[in-house]
Amino acid sequence: MNAGKTYDIALVPGDGIGPDVTKAAWAVAEAAAERDGFALAGTTYPWSCNYYLETGRMMPEDGIEKLRGHDAILLGAVGWPATVPDSVSLHGLLLPIRKAFDQYANIRPHRLLPGVEGPLKAESFDILCIRENTEGEYSGAGGRVHQGMLQEVAVETAIFTRTGVERILRFAFEAAKVRRGRVASVTKSNAQKHSMVFWDEITRLVAADYPDVEVTSYHIDAMAARMVMAPETLDVVVASNLFGDILTDLGAAIQGGLGFAASANVNPTRSAPSMFEPVHGSAPDIAGKGLANPLAAIWSAAMMLDHLGEAQASARILKAMEAATTRGFGIRPGAQTTDAITDAVLTAINEE
Ligand code: IPM
Ligand code: MN
Repeated sequence: MNAGKTYDIALVPGDGIGPDVTKAAWAVAEAAAERDGFALAGTTYPWSCNYYLETGRMMPEDGIEKLRGHDAILLGAVGWPATVPDSVSLHGLLLPIRKAFDQYANIRPHRLLPGVEGPLKAESFDILCIRENTEGEYSGAGGRVHQGMLQEVAVETAIFTRTGVERILRFAFEAAKVRRGRVASVTKSNAQKHSMVFWDEITRLVAADYPDVEVTSYHIDAMAARMVMAPETLDVVVASNLFGDILTDLGAAIQGGLGFAASANVNPTRSAPSMFEPVHGSAPDIAGKGLANPLAAIWSAAMMLDHLGEAQASARILKAMEAATTRGFGIRPGAQTTDAITDAVLTAINEE
């Protein structure tokens, strides 16, 4: 705890429901900060698809440099496919930030909040997915030749570096050490004989440094089944960029939906700011209706405070969220407004 300190946060609300949930998360983070005697100063950047329509860019040329000076970034959602193709908006804002700031660990917790009914029989699971966030299948390496012709070819090359694979695995083992001591490493080395055999080798290499952590390798397909059939057997799950992307939507589904799924894009070396965002997108179907569930964004803000060294305020937010869902707020899509759910969390924070 750092009483009296002010953290300088960049707010990038983005598109669709992004501004609504960012506002909610910010209000809750500020309330928690006040209770713990520190402050948050926010600078809002309007970068979004609307910004693109006005300027031709998702963020200004010096956008990355503007963000670099902040202690952390709180992001809402990026994308409005009706006006800007996703491949343009995401590659113009979200993905460059993850890469430029070397936010190589994408951390996504999956568990049921009290009162939330998931689709599974299992209720007591607590999974921490660690997704590699800067390389792998989403490296952006590749190209197209002979466009529009019969012989057209598209190549998308997955890039796995020793540094990249080793550091994400180490991160996962470190996380397991302070949890239940188990790592599930997600592979597909039965079919992908280069990258995933490499991933398995490095898993074994890193595991040797953590004799107290139990490690098991699972193929991605088997892991997808396990997350549905036996999620309680999992602790830390570590995966490449694509595999982790898919598994964390599955994780969101088993925790009751994307409205609950939080994430942190972390640069563990702290050489640049980390970014915190709900896993959900801009949800055009409910945008502007005030019905978005803010809990995923609020949970992400709690992860931000934890990353900044404010563990007590972070725990305070999680406890308040749990109090709100126990009272029936935010547990069923559309049952309450974004504001009502936010107020329920704020009430719980202030009554502790
Ligand atoms: C996520 C999102 C992004 C990703 C998309 C929008 C590029 O699905 O954060 O999981 O795949 O990283
Ligand atoms: Mn995704």
